Amino acid sequence: MSTNNHGNGSKPSHIELRIKRQDGPGQPSRWEVFRLPYKENANVISCLQEIQRAPVTADGTRTTPVVWDCNCLEEVCGACTMVINGKVRQSCTALIDQLEQPVTLEAMSKFPLVRDLAVDRQRMFDALRKVRAWVPIDGSHDLGPGPRQSPKAQEWMYTLSTCMTCGCCLEACPQVNENSDFMGAAAINQVRLFNNHPTGKMHKEDRLRALTGPGGIQDCGKSQNCVEVCPKSIPLTTSIAEMFRETTIQAIKDWVMREVPKEHGAA
Ligand code: SF4
Ligand code: SF4
Ligand code: FES
Repeated sequence: MSTNNHGNGSKPSHIELRIKRQDGPGQPSRWEVFRLPYKENANVISCLQEIQRAPVTADGTRTTPVVWDCNCLEEVCGACTMVINGKVRQSCTALIDQLEQPVTLEAMSKFPLVRDLAVDRQRMFDALRKVRAWVPIDGSHDLGPGPRQSPKAQEWMYTLSTCMTCGCCLEACPQVNENSDFMGAAAINQVRLFNNHPTGKMHKEDRLRALTGPGGIQDCGKSQNCVEVCPKSIPLTTSIAEMFRETTIQAIKDWVMREVPKEHGAA
């Protein structure tokens, strides 16, 4: 194995990609190898586009074009996430010059496969809906400027807001598997974001209760893999720890409030 920069700085004439192919859910998988002429500044997506134009494997066999997802091409949308040389990351920012050869591409394993490298990340959007990761505003009239926030608060909340639902944190999480419906770190982090938003915090209690429902924060095993792989460097374990604390306080409050009417009734 070698990178494209051959120790002496010379560039290779070709690059090789090993791609795990699967025609659809439940279909058998297979590996196909593609050999492409080396191009300066190529990334994984540009190589996949090259293969799409001429889908022929290294041994000269004509095959179907590889299927993958992408959109923004600048690590903002999260759609192009896949496992590259064993590491989950975005393929649009995976530069060929920085990758070991051959470059191995696989779909994320924690999401239902659509085809080849494309997966269905719907479970992440369902989790966001479950925890109400938004500020409810009906938009029927002008509310004027929102409450002021200090630059310091804006700064740390901005970091939390950069989540692009890419799926890296779920892919790396041992608690996300076929036997669990754990929502993963991304949704937990969004609760922290919206519960600290000056307007969003009005629905703080609902979000905290949703966070302790089935598949909620209690399923986190605190292994911290998520924070290691987040491409946006979001402090996920801090968000998880803070939400653990907040959900515990909420549960105690709810328990106390349940007891109060009973005691009054008995008196
Ligand atoms: S928290 Fe990070 S790794 Fe997880 S979905 Fe958001 S951006 Fe991706
Ligand atoms: S701390 Fe570990 S178990 Fe919890 S969400 Fe992150 S990777 Fe998953
Ligand atoms: S295409 Fe949007 S993150 Fe890669």
